[in-house]
Amino acid sequence: MFTVAVVNQKGGVGKTTVVLGLASAASSRGIDTLVVDLDPQGNATTGLGVFEPGRGVDAVLTEERPGGLAGVVEPGGWPPEVGPVPSLAASSPELSVREPQLATDPLGAQDRLALAMRPGLRAAPDDGSAAAPDDRLVLIDCPPSLGLLTVNALFAADTVLVVTEPGAWAVDGVGRMLQTIERIRMRRPDGRPGIAGIAVNRLGRTRDGRYWNEQLREAYPERCLPPVHLRAAVSEAAAQSMPIHALRRPGAAEAAAEFDELLARVAPLNDLTGTATSSPGDIASPETPTFMERSA
Ligand SMILES: Nc1ncnc2c1ncn2[C@@H]1O[C@H](COP(=O)(O)OP(=O)(O)O)[C@@H](O)[C@H]1O
Ligand SMILES: [Mg+2]
Repeated sequence: MFTVAVVNQKGGVGKTTVVLGLASAASSRGIDTLVVDLDPQGNATTGLGVFEPGRGVDAVLTEERPGGLAGVVEPGGWPPEVGPVPSLAASSPELSVREPQLATDPLGAQDRLALAMRPGLRAAPDDGSAAAPDDRLVLIDCPPSLGLLTVNALFAADTVLVVTEPGAWAVDGVGRMLQTIERIRMRRPDGRPGIAGIAVNRLGRTRDGRYWNEQLREAYPERCLPPVHLRAAVSEAAAQSMPIHALRRPGAAEAAAEFDELLARVAPLNDLTGTATSSPGDIASPETPTFMERSA
């Protein structure tokens, strides 16, 4: 299992869009993916084509049961043509009242999601044999704040992807996020999460966008990843609850390629696909079983 939290304390910068784009890219490579929707607005839930979700992730944050996340995972609603359909731990509106409630826990409630994800997401089989190795990719879509929900994501993540727009105050906002990540690292015995980098999203062709993009690159030269450009196809995919890799319209293939590249920079693809040389083409061939087949 490899877990990526997608964060920014600001709304509308493209966290959900990037989660869905990465899920689509992972699916096209045959990677078994779980999206955890921690935003009460539930845009990743509907973006994955789930309009009447089950209990969702709120239930496991309330119950504090180790390994409990597996019990709320449900299938996503994307068409299966791209690859294995990502599954979902859905959002619900109750998540917004959960956050202030969690804050009253005298033991601290910052690691409830991490606990719910332990020891892995697949339950051991009933016959006593070992559980299948969990080679799944987990993408956590965070709410637009630095509250306890985002903190829970940071305690559960192996790595963090900071998404930002190339706009005014982006450098400050990213800086504050990086400080928060550092504070959490000091508190986690494994020294995680790592920082996958900064993805500049919705980069347009305006002079303003290029200017703020440059500012970010100057401020964080080591951390900036390849950008995701502003394209109508990207918002259309989310609005149609479709993976961008399945959308047939101008700009969709270019956007899909950007998410492919971003995924390669964020997640250890060789570990996740199990074969060092695999490419999306390989996955479909009978000699190279997909994740779902191998772990079935
Ligand atoms: N690269 C992009 N090109 C075009 N539209 C985008 C792009 N990224 C995000 N959007 C649109 O911007 C809006 C906000 O994005 P969203 O992912 O919901 O942000 P967040 O999750 O950070 O609040 C959405 O309507 C989304 O479709
Ligand atoms: Mg969002």
